[in-house]
Amino acid sequence: MATACRFIFAVAVCRVYTQPAPDEPGCELEEGCTASFLQTTRSLKASVAEKCGHLTNGIGDPTTFFNNNCKYHSRQEDCMRPIQDVMAEHEIDGYCYFNATAMYISYVPDDVSFVEAAAAAILSLRATSSSPGETYRGESTGPEAVYNFEGKAIYTHIDVSHYVYDDLYAYSLGFLQGQGIDVRLMDNSSAWEALSREKCDEIQAMYNFTRDDMILNEVLDMNMPILAMSYCAANIELPSFLQVPYVTEKSNYTSKLDCSPITRREFARHHYMKCLLGYRNSAMDMAYLVSRACLLDDGTSNLKIGHLSECPYAPPLA
Ligand SMILES: *[C@@H]1O[C@H](CO)[C@@H](O)[C@H](O)[C@H]1NC(C)=O
Ligand SMILES: *[C@@H]1O[C@H](CO)[C@@H](O)[C@H](O)[C@H]1NC(C)=O
Ligand SMILES: *[C@@H]1O[C@H](CO)[C@@H](O)[C@H](O)[C@H]1NC(C)=O
Ligand SMILES: *[C@@H]1O[C@H](CO)[C@@H](O)[C@H](O)[C@H]1NC(C)=O
Repeated sequence: MATACRFIFAVAVCRVYTQPAPDEPGCELEEGCTASFLQTTRSLKASVAEKCGHLTNGIGDPTTFFNNNCKYHSRQEDCMRPIQDVMAEHEIDGYCYFNATAMYISYVPDDVSFVEAAAAAILSLRATSSSPGETYRGESTGPEAVYNFEGKAIYTHIDVSHYVYDDLYAYSLGFLQGQGIDVRLMDNSSAWEALSREKCDEIQAMYNFTRDDMILNEVLDMNMPILAMSYCAANIELPSFLQVPYVTEKSNYTSKLDCSPITRREFARHHYMKCLLGYRNSAMDMAYLVSRACLLDDGTSNLKIGHLSECPYAPPLA
């Protein structure tokens, strides 16, 4: 099979940077106390991990390109309920509870800095989410594309195919550099999470998503259609390996001349799912998006999206 990381078009997926956090400083002055402190810390971590969801078949659902693994998930039944209802019953991070329901939903137990995590996500997406045979060659080396998005023309370069989704997703949420977000806040995790929460509240005030709009199974099933509708907005043909009913039906995709372009609302729904699964997760999404791209002012009325070194803030990719 294709690796689970193969078809990642959203965010922060195969977290290669998962690592155990150093145990917190405890009461190491007394010998026995240290041991029992560490033991408690470990068993707490273990009990959180035990509560995390997992795949029941070990690989997920290739028919969804691993975008919806609910069918083979320990929390299958809860996938069919509004996220709000499920989360209200559990004092647990949503990416833990629903860990691995999609290849971009995976619980990272310890505190990872948003700056580092965003940089790692950029690199892992670059390495793994390309269409077959595609390689990343640097900024603006990919084909130019012009999105026609809600009445505006927006220029970008598709340097890796997931850019088709992520550029417009970020623009639509207002999460590109140059759209008003203070990137420096990423250094302060609690401030960054608080900002994410504000953005989540703004989204909900604008779209008033109902509980029925937020059934995890259905939101996950929109991710590949969102990609197809992003291709449509970019007026680029959807790659043929993606022209299968799972992708084309919910997006109404027939060809690049007969398709539905993505809407702000659909992008907002995808992000709001992450808000409901925990602000740490929506904050991670925002960190990834703001780290990778910016809205450039080229002195004309054209809107242009730049990436990485073309932008004021450069993530630590070394
Ligand atoms: C998340 O699910 C995957 C796939 O089943 C599993 O390998 C991993 O251990 C789970 N993570 C946690 C923290 O439980
Ligand atoms: C981080 O942000 C919080 C507000 O969310 C603030 O209270 C705190 O002082 C900030 N910490 C630093 C080190 O700037
Ligand atoms: C949001 O939607 C719910 C149910 O559709 C409705 O009862 C409520 O009045 C709406 N709120 C706003 C602010 O539009
Ligand atoms: C697809 O077409 C159907 C029928 O015309 C319509 O109800 C639905 O909203 C369309 N979906 C999208 C994503 O445009």
